[in-house]
Amino acid sequence: DWTMAAYRAEAIAKIRAQVGSGRVICGLSGGVDSAVAAVLIHEAIGDQLTCVFVDHGLLRLGEAERVVTLFRDSYNIPLVHVEAEELFLKELEGVTDPEVKRKTIGRLFIDVFEAEAKKIGGADFLAQGTLYPDVIESVSFTGGPSVTIKSHHNVGGLPERMNMKLVEPLRELFKDEVRALGRELGLPEGFVGRHPFPGPGLAIRCPGEITREKLAILRQADAIYLEEIRRAGLYDAIWQAFAVLLPVRTVGVMGDYRTYDYVCALRAVTSVDGMTADFYPFDMAFLGRVATRIINEVRGINRVTYDVTSKPPGTIEWE
Ligand code: XMP
Repeated sequence: DWTMAAYRAEAIAKIRAQVGSGRVICGLSGGVDSAVAAVLIHEAIGDQLTCVFVDHGLLRLGEAERVVTLFRDSYNIPLVHVEAEELFLKELEGVTDPEVKRKTIGRLFIDVFEAEAKKIGGADFLAQGTLYPDVIESVSFTGGPSVTIKSHHNVGGLPERMNMKLVEPLRELFKDEVRALGRELGLPEGFVGRHPFPGPGLAIRCPGEITREKLAILRQADAIYLEEIRRAGLYDAIWQAFAVLLPVRTVGVMGDYRTYDYVCALRAVTSVDGMTADFYPFDMAFLGRVATRIINEVRGINRVTYDVTSKPPGTIEWE
């Protein structure tokens, strides 16, 4: 695609001009955006770049291993893997407000990046895979009063006291363009086609207080749901699909026993850019199959619902 080839060359020139001989730290989330940003920046400045993957304990099942393996095996990009579960979960204890969750996580990410920068003798820039819709949605709600809907952790600048400046080479792109750029850069198709995953991770798919127990339950339900979606050949037809663990317990019956367990909500949407979305019209047999598996296989869930809200008025994530 010649437009992406041209964009690539232009972006590389811009990164070189901005960074000069400076050092850059790039946060990898495991998603497409940060991976494309990292590969692009690496092409521009080589080993002036260090990538940092923060495992905040809020990732999907098996995700940390997948990301680290992909990057270490497929690219010659230095990657630091930070195990920060303790830190994040401790700070999130007792936090229930969605914006406080997001801001807490954003602040901790910065702390971790700062600490990692120090370890490599300082960094002048922090790189992020911020996209155009992230910028818009964190700033205002089109058509209404200027109000923040959600604070995306990777937008909103850096604290004053920090000496690092931001490098955001994807800031003008939409998701489909980032995927095209990823292909242009030679990223594997299976990776480029991945569903988006938010920086705050499972924290915003676990309304109410986050506990290790709830995260473990959510991970299992989510993995079963995604496995069934792949098995049905629907993964690529869907923009994003995930499970949400509700902070509500309901009564059920298993064999001769009364159960009193959590409710799991399933979400799947189609979208072009994440700014608007429609719920995905699964057939009922598929939903029934997923619900049965989750209830039979995941201890702690005894009821499954499907979210049929589009965006607007809903948002894609629940928090
Ligand atoms: P919403 O929930 O605002 O989500 O309709 C739109 C898209 O953005 C993703 N999202 C995030 N991505 N950091 C991210 O990197 C965030 O804080 C964040 N919040 C939402 C969401 O998964 C969806 O694709």
